[in-house]
Parts: sequence; C-alpha cells; structure tokens
Amino acid sequence: MAGSTKIRVGVNGYGVIGKRVAAAVSQQPDMVLAGVSDVVTDWRAQMAIRNGFRLFAATAERVEPMRRAGLEVAGTLDDLLADVDVIVDCTPKGIASRNADTYRQRGVRFILQGGEQHAATGHSFVAECNYASALGAPATRVVSCNTTSVVRTLTALKRAGLLKRARGTLLRRATDPWESHESGIMNTLVPEPEIPSHQGPDAQAVDPGLDVVTMAVKVPETLAHLHYWSVQLMRPASKDEVLDAFGTSSRIAFIRDDQGLVALNSVRELMTDSGRPFGNLYEVALWADMLRVQGDEAFYAYMVDNQAIVIPETIDAIRALTGAVEDASESIAMTNASLGIGSLFESRARTEVGLK
Ligand SMILES: NC(=O)c1ccc[n+]([C@@H]2O[C@H](COP(=O)([O-])OP(=O)(O)OC[C@H]3O[C@@H](n4cnc5c(N)ncnc54)[C@H](O)[C@@H]3O)[C@@H](O)[C@H]2O)c1
Repeated sequence: MAGSTKIRVGVNGYGVIGKRVAAAVSQQPDMVLAGVSDVVTDWRAQMAIRNGFRLFAATAERVEPMRRAGLEVAGTLDDLLADVDVIVDCTPKGIASRNADTYRQRGVRFILQGGEQHAATGHSFVAECNYASALGAPATRVVSCNTTSVVRTLTALKRAGLLKRARGTLLRRATDPWESHESGIMNTLVPEPEIPSHQGPDAQAVDPGLDVVTMAVKVPETLAHLHYWSVQLMRPASKDEVLDAFGTSSRIAFIRDDQGLVALNSVRELMTDSGRPFGNLYEVALWADMLRVQGDEAFYAYMVDNQAIVIPETIDAIRALTGAVEDASESIAMTNASLGIGSLFESRARTEVGLK
C-alpha cells in the first residue's frame, strides 16, 4: 500500500493454518503483517496480541465481546482490508468462500485454503507447478495439505520426464491435535466412501495433465498423514534417477529409516527438536531408503505435516498475486531461506542421508 514497498498482508482466521501463516509472513523480508482477525475471545486471540500482532474482530458484532474479554481490538475486518494488499483467509471450510465476495468488492487480492472448492477462485496453487499462472491474479486457492504433497512429488517426476501415471493410498490423520477432545476416531479405520478420493481430482485442478488416482482412509492418530504411492514411469529407470528427480524439489526432504526416522512420531519428535516454529515440517518427508524401483515402476512412501506443508505455498502465493516477484524459483528461494527449508535435511538422496 501507499508509502511502503513491502507487501501488506492480513490473515483472517487465526487458527491452525492462520497462526502459522501469520508467523511466516512476519519472517519475510518483503512483507509486513498488517494484522489478524478472528471471532474468538480466549487464549487463541490473546496469543495473537502476545505475539505482537494487531488483532481485528472479523465481524462488527464481535468487537464488543472481544473488548469485554480484555482484548485490544484494532478494528474490524473492514478496517484490516483497507490496510492490506493481500488477505489470506484461513477461516474454517465454507466460511472463506462466503468472504470472497467481500474481498472482490473491496478490490483486495485474496488467498483461500484447501477447504474451499477450486471454483471459489478459479485458480489452484502449488508454487513449484504453476506459480506463473497466478501472477497478478486477483485470487488463488492454496490446495490442501495432501494435494500439495501430491503435486510437489508428481511435478518433480514429471520435470524429469519420468511420470506416466500415479496411484496413491493416503492414510489421513483423524483430526488436528488441538481439537482431539472434540473429534477424531478411535480404534477404527474409516475408508473414504468414493474412489478416487478428492485429492487426485484436486491435483488435476492444479495440473490437468496429471494421470493420478487417489484412495484415502482416515486413521486414529493426529500426528500427520502418510502416503503410499505406486507410479508407472515413462521408461525403466534406476532408483538413483528417481531419487534425483525428487531431489530437484527443494521442498521434498529425504529421510531414512536407518537414521532412526522410522515412523511419524520419530519425525514429529525431530521437528519439535529442530526449533522451527510449531515444529513445522514444511517439506514432504520421503523415505529414501524405502523407495524401490522395479523396471518402469516406482514405489515410495512419505509423511505430510498437514498443519505446515501449505505455509510456504501460501507465502509464494502472496508474492505471485501481487506480482512482486515474477520468477517462481526466486520466490521459492526467498521463502525457503526465511523458513529454514533446505537448512535442516541433507538434500542428496543417494549418499549418506541425514541431517545437515
Ligand atoms: N488443519 C489442517 O491441517 C489444514 C491443512 C491444510 C489446509 N487447511 C485448510 O485451512 C483452512 C483453515 O483450517 P484450520 O485447520 O486452520 O481451521 P481452524 O478451525 O484451526 O481455524 C479457523 C480459525 O478461524 C476462526 N473463525 C471462525 N469463524 C470465523 C469468521 N467468521 N471470521 C474469522 N475467523 C473465524 C476460528 O476461531 C479459528 O481461529 C480450511 O480451509 C482448511 O481446510 C487445514
């Protein structure tokens, strides 16, 4: 906005994704967090203020309850919208799409998250795949955590000329940890009722050229998602070739069973120890030693931190919409540097893979 060369960003909905986006925006050299808005009056809003963020009430009706709760409220969402170049809507599924009209009327560029449908923006975003097509656009949707991982990994194989078709089974975490007292399943597995599950078609909303089918099952844990993939390659290839292809993505991290990273909980513990905010694992964590190539077929598994993987994508989407950085790789490098992506995991897959 006027008087500043930095991109002014607002975050509407300071929950699991919103608080991580707000933290990441604050870490960008070319962005300013103008404020966050929400409707709650409890510790969640208190934490926003404690973190030094300006807090806005998402609706006029919430101003008084928030003030009565002792929160310093800087205004309403309307006020926040007047002060930003881009608003990132991280409200629960369904609400964000309803906000889209407001953003359009106000002429504010906006980003929705994966709970919304592609049609809500007409553009679905994964930085390494289609940054260019979002340049200067009024809006985009950062696809869901699972879909982001699918597009990242398959784009890497496609770039190397290796991808023919991919079939994946997704084991989906039951709920987010902080909501475990309210929802989630126990002592059962719940298959998604339809094949394909929505992530395959959703990946095709980003890249219509992908031949991909997904199947999904909800599992009784809250740590992360786990994917198993079977990929038909264009030709017989070696394991090293496939690992090299994945290695071209800065957001695919190689992990190894023989380094003690044997399960979701050990990777989660590593991330907690890493010192990253919220223990965020922004990368797709792919088991390099497990990966197997048999003729023209590749088989592999990886972990997706559902709460974190979309954060770097959202930061790149902000730059794309504003046109501030035209080159995808430049934005990705800036985001990676600010969030520490590339500084934790060893990037060479074939040799000794571990931590840097
Ligand atoms: N949680 C995940 O793992 C995950 C991963 C990828 C994408 N997403 C997507 O991100 C979006 C947000 O999900 P989340 O998990 O962060 O939700 P969340 O429930 O953790 O957070 C939503 C926040 O929005 C606030 N809110 C509710 N109504 C509001 C309103 N009218 N105006 C402003 N704020 C309001 C809530 O108080 C809460 O703080 C959804 O589209 C979801 O599908 C979630």
